[in-house]
Amino acid sequence: MRRKLPLYNSIQTATTPLGKGMASPQVMGTVYIETYGCQMNVSDSELMAGILSGIGYYLLDRAEDADVILINTCAIRENAEEKVFHRLQHLNSIKRRKPDTVLGVCGCMAQHLRQQIIEAAPFVDIILGPDAYRSLPQAIHAARSKDPFVGLKLDRSEDYADLAPIRKDGVRAWLTIQRGCDKMCTFCVVPFTRGRERSISVPILAEECHRLVDEGFKEIVLLGQTVNSYQAGKHDFGDLLVTLNQVEGLKRIRFTSPHPNDASEPMIEAMANCDKVCQQIHLPLQSGSTRVLQAMRRTYTANEYRDLVAQMRDRMPNLSISTDIIVGFCGETEEDFQQTYSMMAEIRYDSAFMFKYSDREGTLAHKSLTDDVPEKVKIERLQCIIEQQYQISHQINQALIGKTVEVLVEGESKRSTDDFFGRTRSFKTTVFPRLSANVGDTVLVQINSATAQTLIGNIVSPGN
Ligand code: SAH
Ligand code: F3S
Repeated sequence: MRRKLPLYNSIQTATTPLGKGMASPQVMGTVYIETYGCQMNVSDSELMAGILSGIGYYLLDRAEDADVILINTCAIRENAEEKVFHRLQHLNSIKRRKPDTVLGVCGCMAQHLRQQIIEAAPFVDIILGPDAYRSLPQAIHAARSKDPFVGLKLDRSEDYADLAPIRKDGVRAWLTIQRGCDKMCTFCVVPFTRGRERSISVPILAEECHRLVDEGFKEIVLLGQTVNSYQAGKHDFGDLLVTLNQVEGLKRIRFTSPHPNDASEPMIEAMANCDKVCQQIHLPLQSGSTRVLQAMRRTYTANEYRDLVAQMRDRMPNLSISTDIIVGFCGETEEDFQQTYSMMAEIRYDSAFMFKYSDREGTLAHKSLTDDVPEKVKIERLQCIIEQQYQISHQINQALIGKTVEVLVEGESKRSTDDFFGRTRSFKTTVFPRLSANVGDTVLVQINSATAQTLIGNIVSPGN
């Protein structure tokens, strides 16, 4: 059974039983989980929390207090890994003070850099890849007996569908519908760290979705590396959206990240027709140059991507689109870069995640291409698109002033307890005086000012 419990109990509350009506197993210890990287990692940390809670571990929000410290890592770019190496040195100081503390490195970097972790951080007790979380109890047991544990087998049948994650309280739940990736983009380490693609069946996901609604979640975000290549038996991604759209009590459905090549007609139909599916898509472009896209093995041309956007905007005129861009990929010329720059201006994304290319060992680009764009040029190009995107996001948001948008209330704003914040259907953060609204309500907010990141307004119609 899946459960929603506070993910982080403080040490003071760590003596409370594990949730109402549930047999509480013997208390085995306390665990702290720290997450780096993408939403998939957040979702995997929830899975780990579920596994450990099931065998009697309490979740803490401070590494210093925990018997077991797990770092769930990312390998996508070099700086993500550097951050973790740095953090591990700090965590080792806790281990020096409390030698029985168990320290584990989990996730993509564990899978990618096993040897380097062993060499640079020999004090690490557990190394577990993304398909090995089931062995967490065994790994901790071994580590507590001073026997280091390494679990790195990729298993294309592992989908964890029978396990119960523990999710943070909130209005939005992340639901992993697919694991792994079969695409093999030349720059990307994910197929090597997460293995082959596999999808969880529609009935299991539908049941899970009902349960999430019963637990109080209002919005689900379907997760997968190429989420729209989802295929479970004869059901494709469009079928899944149509099925989940029928879950009563659920207000919104989103998904991330789709691959342009898997943006099929049924997916677009479902997005256009299903009232709960938000008309918002994160559609990674990576580059506006077909030559670079080919070197990246993205399997679409710049024009095919343009056509897809046009087709979707034709069906959904208010579709909100965001993207991922890499600058400075192997062989990217000034002209290639200019094509990316102008394509971003042409498409006018609501927002974008923009990265400098980072050479990753093990990838196809690392083996067969040369990381030949100088760092200085990468930085300049990145700066250039960041500035352009800032202007575009600002203009798009400014154009919403005076308009009324539907906002799902998520909680108190960071700046003032008198204000709430929430997201529009287009995933824009919106801040407004709370009045009598409650978290989980959808309210209509009239926008009266906007920055590139945030809309600010007033409730014009109370919640439901
Ligand atoms: N399909 C996945 C992509 C994961 S990686 C998803 O769920 O979104 C997220 C983004 O990181 C990619 O879209 C790409 O823009 C960027 N990225 C991946 N590998 C990279 C690398 N080696 N250097 C720089 N950016 C990279
Ligand atoms: Fe990576 Fe490309 Fe898959 S970006 S996750 S190999 S679709």
